[in-house]
Amino acid sequence: MNFILSFVKGRSRLLAIYGVRRVGKTSVLKVALSEAGVPYCYIDARMLEGDFTRRRLYQLISSCLTELSVRWRLEGIIRSIARIVRGVNVLGSGVELSVEIDWSRTYLTDLLNALSRHLDVFVLSIDEAQVLRMLKGFGKVDMVQVLAYVYDNLGNVKVILTGSEVGLLHDFLGLDNPRSPLHGRFIEELTIRPFSRDLSIQFLITGFRQYGVEVSMGEILEAVNRLDGIVGWLTYYGNAGYAVSLMSMRFIGGPWS
Ligand SMILES: Nc1ncnc2c1ncn2[C@@H]1O[C@H](COP(=O)(O)OP(=O)(O)OP(=O)(O)O)[C@@H](O)[C@H]1O
Ligand SMILES: [Mg+2]
Repeated sequence: MNFILSFVKGRSRLLAIYGVRRVGKTSVLKVALSEAGVPYCYIDARMLEGDFTRRRLYQLISSCLTELSVRWRLEGIIRSIARIVRGVNVLGSGVELSVEIDWSRTYLTDLLNALSRHLDVFVLSIDEAQVLRMLKGFGKVDMVQVLAYVYDNLGNVKVILTGSEVGLLHDFLGLDNPRSPLHGRFIEELTIRPFSRDLSIQFLITGFRQYGVEVSMGEILEAVNRLDGIVGWLTYYGNAGYAVSLMSMRFIGGPWS
């Protein structure tokens, strides 16, 4: 959390957050973004849903600009941006405002440039960013090029990426690959670790106490041994009722399935 907050306030430009599935990456990112008090866009790359087209990506960007405008009361700024960036249109106003981007005419670098000029700081966060690699190809969008452009030219635009598949995210960004547009750029890296054993025990005891559920220490220890400190599984176990969930989690891909 503090690491992300310092990143947003500091001078670094690019942050990658790693961590195994369900360890809490998205939660940490979202809490930090809302604490940071800085305008941001949040895009979950999994929302491309296998539709790895420019059109779909631009839909996601339109929604995040709409949210940016409403949440941060940036209607005036969004309207100015729409005036200078080709293909960006603003429909409605106030909470009814909606930003539309013409995927066939708009360049992301123009849009990011305009955001950079109109805002003191802007955070672009992309959850499960390794999925963006699927967008590459003729007539699509090479997001690594876009990110390299941002890194090199837009000092006040900070990029935060998360990835459960560290290897894929690394390969996608290609920081060590001389052929990648991002080669040699500096990246901050944060790995979200599972809870320690003690913290996991504490977490479950507190959780069960809150709900007034009686659970023996033996049962808690058994769960902790199996759940490896992965907060997503611990909460799942805590919420679903311990007896049912330890068994059913085998079937939904729990850590020991
Ligand atoms: N600090 C926390 N305390 C309690 N519950 C938490 C905490 N962090 C995350 N959770 C819960 O754990 C679950 C998994 O968290 P989250 O979705 O943030 O993980 P993730 O690493 O992004 O997972 P995925 O790899 O599936 O995207 C969520 O249900 C979330 O509400
Ligand atoms: Mg997530």
